[in-house]
Amino acid sequence: MYKRLGTMGFLVILALMVSAIQSEIQPFYTLDKDRNLNRPKPDLYRKWEVVGAGAVPNDLNRNRAIFPGVHLVYIDPVAFNHRRESGFFPDGTVIIMENYHQKRREGVSGIGYFESGERDLLVSVKDRRVFPGSGWSYYLFSDKEIREGVLAKPPSPKSDCQACHLTHASDDEVFVDFYPQLKRKADANTKKVNASE
Ligand code: HEC
Repeated sequence: MYKRLGTMGFLVILALMVSAIQSEIQPFYTLDKDRNLNRPKPDLYRKWEVVGAGAVPNDLNRNRAIFPGVHLVYIDPVAFNHRRESGFFPDGTVIIMENYHQKRREGVSGIGYFESGERDLLVSVKDRRVFPGSGWSYYLFSDKEIREGVLAKPPSPKSDCQACHLTHASDDEVFVDFYPQLKRKADANTKKVNASE
């Protein structure tokens, strides 16, 4: 009996230790049992760093923009710091782009482009421990899918997303040129000194 309690006690302590370690290194993305990406939750990623705010309206692109709308780009805090310190995106990096669909209308503030109420979610995850090749994997949750309650998605075919990112993005498949905050801290500081000269 004593021995049994001892074993159980040991198991309880072990479970507590494991859960403590897990909570410390909890990944910023999770896969379901079929290895599909669980749709990231806004209440989580909206607390991350916003590194990009771009607008790609259709009427500037002869109606051919691939993701017309306002693009808000978030990156998880660990990857943000790592990238700023070392210049690299570590395994476990999650980058999320919200694409807010727009419509042209007039407000008292002026004529502009305002939210139509639809929003896609584009996600890229880098993890060489999980995904082959460069480790980047891409996911799209369209507005329609979000409305239909799609909770998890398999990676998009490489030809859909990765081909363009591989060929055209300036650094490790990420369009860092569009994200001034993702410059290395040291480089950003040098720039500031130069700018103040
Ligand atoms: C024709 C090229 C092209 C294709 C195809 C493409 N993207 Fe991108 N993507 C871009 C560009 C350019 C940016 C940055 C500028 C912007 O906001 O549009 C970007 C930004 C992103 C970002 C923000 C992080 C980063 O890498 O800059 C994510 C996440 C993303 N795309 C995911 C996807 C997903 C998922 C797909 C496929 C469903 C996809 N992309 C298809 C060109 C592309």
